[in-house]
Amino acid sequence: MARIVGGLTSSHIPAIGNAIAKELFEDPYWKPFFDGYPPVRDWLAKVKPDIAVVIYNDHGLNFFLDKQPTFAIGAAPEYHNQDEGWGIPTIAPFKGAPEFSWHLINSIINDEFDLVTCQEMNVDHGFTMPMKLFWPDYADRDIKTVPLVINTVQHPLPSPKRCYNLGKALGKAIESYPQDLNVVIIGTGGLSHQLDGERAGFINKAFDQICMERIVDDPEYFLDMSIHDLVRQAGAQGAEFIMWLAMRGALGGTVKQIHSNYHIPISNTAAGLLCLENGP
Ligand code: DHB
Ligand code: FE
Repeated sequence: MARIVGGLTSSHIPAIGNAIAKELFEDPYWKPFFDGYPPVRDWLAKVKPDIAVVIYNDHGLNFFLDKQPTFAIGAAPEYHNQDEGWGIPTIAPFKGAPEFSWHLINSIINDEFDLVTCQEMNVDHGFTMPMKLFWPDYADRDIKTVPLVINTVQHPLPSPKRCYNLGKALGKAIESYPQDLNVVIIGTGGLSHQLDGERAGFINKAFDQICMERIVDDPEYFLDMSIHDLVRQAGAQGAEFIMWLAMRGALGGTVKQIHSNYHIPISNTAAGLLCLENGP
C-alpha cells in the first residue's frame, strides 16, 4: 500500500526562481532563507518519496476570475511551467502520475469533495518554486507529482476547517492506493503577507509563530477560524496558510518535526519552512 512519509511546507514566491538562477545562495539577503533547505533535502534522501502531492494556489494561470474552482487536481502525464512576471523561464516539465491521480480523484470525490479534474494543467510559482527548492535536480530524478489546487484568488475561499478535512480525505485516498509507494505532501505559500491595498507589506510575526508551532501538534487550533479571521491575522495573501492545513490534515495525528526555518522578509512574505515526519 502507499505510505505517507511526511509533509513539507515552503514559501513559493517567484523571486526565489530569480535568486536560484543567479545562485544567490550565500547572498546576505537570501542566505537565511536558502540555509533552511539542505536538512530537508537530507531527510528526502532518507525517506525517498516516489510521488509528491503539491497543494498550492493557482495564481490566475489555469483559473481566473471568470472560472474559479474551489478545489482542482491534476491528472496529466506532465506539467509545464507557464508562470509569468519574471518572463517564462524554460525549466524542465514535472512528471505526473495520472493513474495515481485518478485513484485520488475517485476516493476524494467519494468522500464528498467535488474536485475539478484537469487532464491538462500548467503550473506556476506556487508549484514550481517549492519543487525546485526540495529537488534542485528534479529533472534527472524519477519524482512524480500531483498538483492539488485550492482557490485563494476570488472569494468566497474555503474555510480552514474545509481545507483540513480535504487533507484528511487526501490522506485516506493515498493510504488506500494498492501499490507500495512513498508519498510526501507539500503545502506551499504563506506565511503572513499582503501584496495590495491599505495593508500592503503587512507581516504578522506573532501569528506566524503560532502557525509554525500549532500546525505541528495542535492543527485543530485553527479550525474555528473563518477565512476572514485568517485574512485579518495573516493578510489577504497570507490566507495561503490553508494549503498548510490541507497538508497537515493528510498526515496522522502525531508527527515528528524534523526541521523548521522562519525568516522575514523574503520579498513581501514571511517565509516558513517545515519538515514533518508522519507518525504511526
Ligand atoms: C509574493 C508572494 C506570493 O504569495 C506570490 O504568490 C507572489 C509574490 C511576494 O511576496 O513577492
Ligand atoms: Fe502566492
